Amino acid sequence: MSTRPNPRQVHIETFGCQMNEYDSELVRTLLKREGYVFTEDRECADVILMNTCAIRENAHAKVYTHLSDLKALKKTRPLVVGVLGCMAQNLKEELTVKEPLVDVLAGPDAYRRLPMLIDDAIRAQEQGLGSKGLAVDLSEYETYDDVTPERTGGVNAWIAVMRGCDNFCSFCVVPYTRGRERSRDPQGILDEARRIADQGFKQITLLGQNVNSYRSGDWDFARLISAVADVPGIERVRFTSPHPKDFPRSLLEAVVSHPRICKHIHLPVQSGNDRILGMMNRTYTRAEYLALVDEIRRMDSDIVLTTDIIAGFCSESDAEFADTYRLLETVRYHSAFVFLYSERKHTIAARKFPDDVPAEVKSQRVTALVELQRRISTERNREYLGRTLPVLVEGDAKKSHLQGMGKTDGNITVIWDKSTLPSQPGQTLSLSIYDASASTLYARPV
Ligand code: SAH
Ligand code: SF4
Ligand code: F3S
Repeated sequence: MSTRPNPRQVHIETFGCQMNEYDSELVRTLLKREGYVFTEDRECADVILMNTCAIRENAHAKVYTHLSDLKALKKTRPLVVGVLGCMAQNLKEELTVKEPLVDVLAGPDAYRRLPMLIDDAIRAQEQGLGSKGLAVDLSEYETYDDVTPERTGGVNAWIAVMRGCDNFCSFCVVPYTRGRERSRDPQGILDEARRIADQGFKQITLLGQNVNSYRSGDWDFARLISAVADVPGIERVRFTSPHPKDFPRSLLEAVVSHPRICKHIHLPVQSGNDRILGMMNRTYTRAEYLALVDEIRRMDSDIVLTTDIIAGFCSESDAEFADTYRLLETVRYHSAFVFLYSERKHTIAARKFPDDVPAEVKSQRVTALVELQRRISTERNREYLGRTLPVLVEGDAKKSHLQGMGKTDGNITVIWDKSTLPSQPGQTLSLSIYDASASTLYARPV
């Protein structure tokens, strides 16, 4: 790591998914190597980076709001503004032409060049020049295998095991912002897992845009996750986000039977109607999806299933939406993320299908699903009343530092009163559940 007489202070803000959180950790490592230091305080930063998300319109809107805040700040002092991540990749023209504020733009495969781009931008600013640094090429190979992300502590450590996505779901921008699928070498991943265990992390979450399509030689995802879960010192292994098409029996068996792989499967369904699933290019039918759910539940009736849904996709009729509603009633997930369809530039749906469901119909459908799911989640969580569950302590509850917060193996949030039960992050407690809401279990000591 190099040192500088007057190190530049960098502030980074992260939007979007866990992969972006992970990538921000990579960026910290890459910039620190070149002598940059990081600050939590944007007011004293020389460089402000935004690691952005492009998945839905509201993700864009957030970044544009932040950019307009920075405009005021930039008037008061020299400041380099960088946009990283999926929006940088997808909106390079808009961001460079329309936003004179942005000095540096780097997509998810270009972070090795970031120190150089920032150096150049600082120099250009010192010389009163207005040049911009751009790096938005996607790579078929970049996995940052040799860059250890600077993890900021806590209980969980992320490991990106694959990057990119080849599925081209018609609504989704990710294959365009993150490029083709590529998997890391398993030995590098296992070395990283062992280092993580040595550093005292209790949980590893394996990450990928389509994590269960991981393949490297004769290593598939089932073999990889089992090997990571065998690393001594690691108590829990999770994974996200999987695609329902990549759940061979061997993976289900690993999840169900390995004591350290968490009993939680996120199984994004998107829609319960076959015509819509076909238009979405999801590659499964409603019946095939429900057969997978049945297979999983036959293997372990206690497993926690969660999902993602898009309401109001192009041409979705009331009757087709009702199929999704009924699918939620049938599967009874523990929780579901419900999204309003948002047309994304460059996607297959944007090119082929008009975004023709009226905004108010989309919102009504989202509301109906959210209300249904809230009722089901409450009922599901109430099934835990009176049970004793192992809970991995993460820290304090968001609402009060007098309460502790942790997660069940199934990833459900648990809260307790710290006066009756002092707790330290990283501990696993055996707790008795006495109350439940749609999102939270309330516990006390056994
Ligand atoms: N790779 C993951 C996650 C993709 S993004 C997966 O395949 O599951 C997370 C969720 O955002 C998706 O599952 C989908 O429900 C939602 N999403 C993606 N594109 C969207 C769009 N254009 N409009 C609304 N929701 C979208
Ligand atoms: Fe997007 Fe589909 Fe890939 Fe998920 S699997 S990232 S929804 S294209
Ligand atoms: Fe967003 Fe890119 Fe993640 S679009 S959800 S930050 S992969």
